[in-house]
Amino acid sequence: MQRTRLLIVDDEAAIRDGLKRILERESFVVETCSSGFHAIEIMQQHTFDLIITDLKMPGMSGIEVLKGVRTLQPGIPVILITGFASIDTAVEAMKNGASDYISKPFAPDILMEKVKNALSQRHSSSDEADFKEEVSQHHGFHQFIGESAEMQKVYHRIVQVAATNSTVLITGESGTGKELAARAIHDNSLRKDRPFVAVDCSSLAETLLESELFGHVKGSFTGAVQAKTGLFKIADGGTLFLDEVSNITLSTQAKLLRTLQERKITPIGGTQPVPIDIHLVAATNRNLKTMSHEGTFREDLFFRLNIIPIELPPLRDRRQDIPILIRHFLKKYTREIGKEIRGIAPDVMSFLENYLYPGNVRELENMIERAVVLAEGDCIRNEDLELWDSNDEPASNKMIDRIPMNAEELKEMKRHIRDHAMESLESVFVRNALERNGWNVTRAAEETGILRPNFQNMMKKLRISIKGERGFKPDHSPDPSE
Ligand SMILES: Nc1ncnc2c1ncn2[C@@H]1O[C@H](COP(=O)(O)OP(=O)(O)OP(=O)(O)O)[C@@H](O)[C@H]1O
Ligand SMILES: [Mg+2]
Repeated sequence: MQRTRLLIVDDEAAIRDGLKRILERESFVVETCSSGFHAIEIMQQHTFDLIITDLKMPGMSGIEVLKGVRTLQPGIPVILITGFASIDTAVEAMKNGASDYISKPFAPDILMEKVKNALSQRHSSSDEADFKEEVSQHHGFHQFIGESAEMQKVYHRIVQVAATNSTVLITGESGTGKELAARAIHDNSLRKDRPFVAVDCSSLAETLLESELFGHVKGSFTGAVQAKTGLFKIADGGTLFLDEVSNITLSTQAKLLRTLQERKITPIGGTQPVPIDIHLVAATNRNLKTMSHEGTFREDLFFRLNIIPIELPPLRDRRQDIPILIRHFLKKYTREIGKEIRGIAPDVMSFLENYLYPGNVRELENMIERAVVLAEGDCIRNEDLELWDSNDEPASNKMIDRIPMNAEELKEMKRHIRDHAMESLESVFVRNALERNGWNVTRAAEETGILRPNFQNMMKKLRISIKGERGFKPDHSPDPSE
C-alpha cells in the first residue's frame, strides 16, 4: 500500500524538524520546506495527502499557501500552525477552507489527533467523470477544441483557478491558445461580468507601458497633458491579462512586484496609492525560470506570477486532437467563406495529421482557412495547397497515382507519404529553430519545447550538424559517411 505523504511548510527549522520527527514515527512520508513559494513549487511536481503550514512566514503567508493548495490539489486537507496571538486569522483560515489549526506550542498527541482527523476528511475530486463526459460531448471546453488528456488537464486547471484570485502564469509556444485560456479563466469566474483587460507587454516602450498600467497624473511628465487612468484601475473587479510578460523591463518588473504585494497602485507622479481588486493572469512563450537565472527576469516576480502555472501543450504532443481541430476549422471556414467542401484528399489528410506544427493551433487554423479559400473543387488537394513540392517527385507521390490494391499496400503508401513529408518538414523545423537561436542547441531545444537529447537525435537523423555551420544552408546532399 502507498504510504501517506505529508508536506510541512515552516520558516523555523526547529518546528519543521520537530514535526517531521513526530510524524515519521507514525510512518508517514514527510517532506519539509521553508517557504510558501517553495511549497507551491513542490506541489506542482508532487501530490500529498496533507499539508501542514505555518501561518506567519515572510514572503508568502500560510493563507496564500492554503489558497494555492485549494487550486493545485483541491481535495487535500490543510492544517495551519498559528501562534497564540493569531487565533482570529486562524478562524479566517478556516473560512478559506483550512481543515483545522493548531497553536504553538503543541503536544505530539494533539498533533496526531488533528492529523488523523484531517486525513479522514480527504475527498477525491468526484466530478472527474462528469467533466470528461462534458469535454467529449463538446469536443472541448469553452472556446477550446480538443479532448486529449493533456488538454483535459488544462481545462481542469482553468476551472479550478477561475474560482480563486491566485495569480496565474500561462506558458506555451506561440499559437497554443494562451490568450484563449486567459479568457476562459475570466469567463468561468465570478468576475465574468466585470472587465477583462488584455495588455500586450511587448508592444509598448517602458514609459508608455507604465503609464498604461498604472496611469498618470496631469503634468507628471512632458506630454502628460491630461490625467490617465491605468489599466489596473480600469480592470478593477475583473481580470487583468498581461500578455508576453517576459518583455517588461527590470524596472517595470519591480513596480509590478510591488503592486502585486501591496495590492495598491500609485499613478505616475501621484502620491496616493489606491487599492485595486484584480485577478492577474500573465502569459509568456519564454521560460521565465531560465530568464531569472540569466538575470533578465526577477526571480521574486516569477514566483509571484507562477502561483498557479498553466502549461499549454504544443499541438505535436497531442496529435489525437488534430483531426477534431481540422473538422472544426473546416466547418468554421466553409461556413464563413460560403464554400461547400466535401472532403480532404487522403494524402493531404495524412500530411496534416503528421505535420509538426511549429506554429501550433494557429498554424493549423491558417492552413485550413487557406485550403478552403484555394480549393478548386469540393475536395482539398495538394495541387491547390502546395503543402509539399510535387516537383520533388518523392517516391510517395508516384505511389499516389496508383490505387492501392490492398490494406497492406495502403498502409505502406501512407507510411511513405508520412515519412517523406515528415522528414523535410522536420528538417525545416529544426533548422529554423537553430537559426532563431544562433545555432545554440540548448536554446533551440528549449524554445521548441523538445528535450535536448531528443532534439539532438532529430538533428542526427536529419544530418544537421552544428560544426562549421553557423548560417542556414539547405543541405540535401547525402552524408558521405553513410
Ligand atoms: N485548442 C484550441 N481550439 C480551438 N482554437 C484554438 C485552440 N488553441 C488555439 N486556438 C486558436 O488559435 C489561435 C491562437 O490562439 P491564441 O492567440 O490564444 O494563442 P497564443 O498562445 O496566445 O499565441 P501567441 O503566443 O502567438 O500569442 C486563435 O485563433 C485561437 O482561437
Ligand atoms: Mg497570445
